Order: sequence, then C-alpha cells, then structure tokens
Amino acid sequence: MLSLQELTAVRDVAEAAARAAGTILRSRLGRDLRVSYKGAVDLVTDADRAAEETIVKFVREAFPEHDILAEEQDYGRRDSAWRWIIDPLDGTTNFAHGFPWFAVSIALEEQGEIVCGVVYHPCTDEMFSAVRGQGAMLNQRPLRVSAVDKLEQALLATGFPYDRKSSDINNYDHFIHFQQAAQACRRPGVASLDLASVAAGRFDGYWEMKLKPWDVAAGLLLVLEAGGQVTDFDGSKVDIYAPRILASNGLLHSGMQQILRQGRSPL
Ligand code: IPD
Ligand code: CA
Ligand code: CA
Repeated sequence: MLSLQELTAVRDVAEAAARAAGTILRSRLGRDLRVSYKGAVDLVTDADRAAEETIVKFVREAFPEHDILAEEQDYGRRDSAWRWIIDPLDGTTNFAHGFPWFAVSIALEEQGEIVCGVVYHPCTDEMFSAVRGQGAMLNQRPLRVSAVDKLEQALLATGFPYDRKSSDINNYDHFIHFQQAAQACRRPGVASLDLASVAAGRFDGYWEMKLKPWDVAAGLLLVLEAGGQVTDFDGSKVDIYAPRILASNGLLHSGMQQILRQGRSPL
C-alpha cells in the first residue's frame, strides 16, 4: 500500500498533469477541431488525444511501472497493483460546441480501490482533489456535501447514455420520476464534474447509467471524502466497471434508491 507521503506525490503528479491538459483544452476551445465519431453521437477530437498524450507523459515519467487505463488509447498491461484511470476530456460534446463546461479526470486505483482522484475544470480553474482518508479539497479548501435532506428541496444531476436512441434502457424514465420528485434536475454533460459538484454541496445527488470507469473513478472518491455516499443503484458497493452509479450527500440516498426502483436499469 502506498504511504501517505507517496499518495501526496501521486496527487501532485495528477494535479500537474490535469493542469497541463487543461491548458491544452482551454487553448483549443472554440477553435477549428478535427472531430470524428466513435458512435452515432459519441465524438472524439484531436484535443482529447493531445490532452491524453500530455497526461500519460506525466504519469509515465513519475510512475513508469504503473498501469494506465485511459479513454482514447490502449497502453497495454504491466500487471501492476496500481492503475491510473484517465479521462483527458470529460464533456467532449460540450467542448466541441464551444460550451465551456468540461473537465480532466484522473484517478489512481490501488488493488481495486480508488486512492486518489483529481477533477480539473479548466474554464473556472477549479481543482478538485482527494486522497483516501484525507478529505476532499477544492483549490486547497476542504469540501463538504450539502445538508439537504428532502428530495423536494434537492438539486440533482444526471446524464443520458450514448445508446439512448437505440436502447430503451436510456434513463428517460428515471429522469421523469426524479424531475417530479426533486426541486430540479440538471444534465450538464460532464459526469466527473457532476460528482465533484455533489462533493462541493452544489448538487445534492447524482445518478447515471452506462458510464465508463474513467468518467467516475476520480469523482466518486471526491464524494466519499467530502462525507457523501456512492453506491450502485440498489445501495450495494459501487463498482466503477459496472453500469450504475448513485451518489448523494448521504441524507437523500435511500429516497433516491426508492425512485430508481421504479424505472428500468441496466443489469
Ligand atoms: C461523457 C460525459 C457525460 C456522460 C456521458 C459520458 P465524454 O463523457 O461524462 O456527462 O453523460 O455518458 O460518456 O464522452 O464526454 O468523455
Ligand atoms: Ca467521459
Ligand atoms: Ca472523454
């Protein structure tokens, strides 16, 4: 297991890599981009790839033996106890439209547990970071989830999967149920920032389906370290490789689970 000192070094590398990637993304926002399609509505741009290359350079230089799981490229397997989980640009659709709401998300997994997570919002220069057992911070200030305990007073966030046009397990039913039960629901388009916003007490709860590990790995540690709860839809232990995630300030968790039981979810 990494010591606290080693974890602090990991966090420093993750933050430096996220800032460097953020600088690239900021400089390309609103410019001509080469856009290609991974699926019907799933985009990738040259900025995603450039940001990923930069992050991987930082990680490889500091921790050459560690594994890397990143969205845009396969880095092979080293069978290390540590795996960096990287989304170089979370919110590509927003980015490609010049909408300044996107993030860089970097986490370190140690034998199946997330031990460090960093989410950087380049357009507001907000650095959210957490080390397991050490709390969550936003630009050096400690973070705490909200104290809202009634769903009707809650601001919630979610997203819709890329296969929403072809699959009827597409979160539309859950969205209607929550929209009726909560004060309001938002769909900002950046899973990592949705989770960071729960950690910061800006959102009171968040759920989503069919995400990838790099969308949620860093954000989930932020929520836990800010005093919130993150589970599967049914309250069981969250698995970043499974297609269901529910995060909240803890107070709303069982109420949100109840709502989720009323709609269709992926197995
Ligand atoms: C997407 C965003 C979005 C979520 C999508 C993700 P990407 O990531 O996190 O909020 O709803 O399903 O795939 O593709 O922009 O990295
Ligand atoms: Ca993503
Ligand atoms: Ca991405």
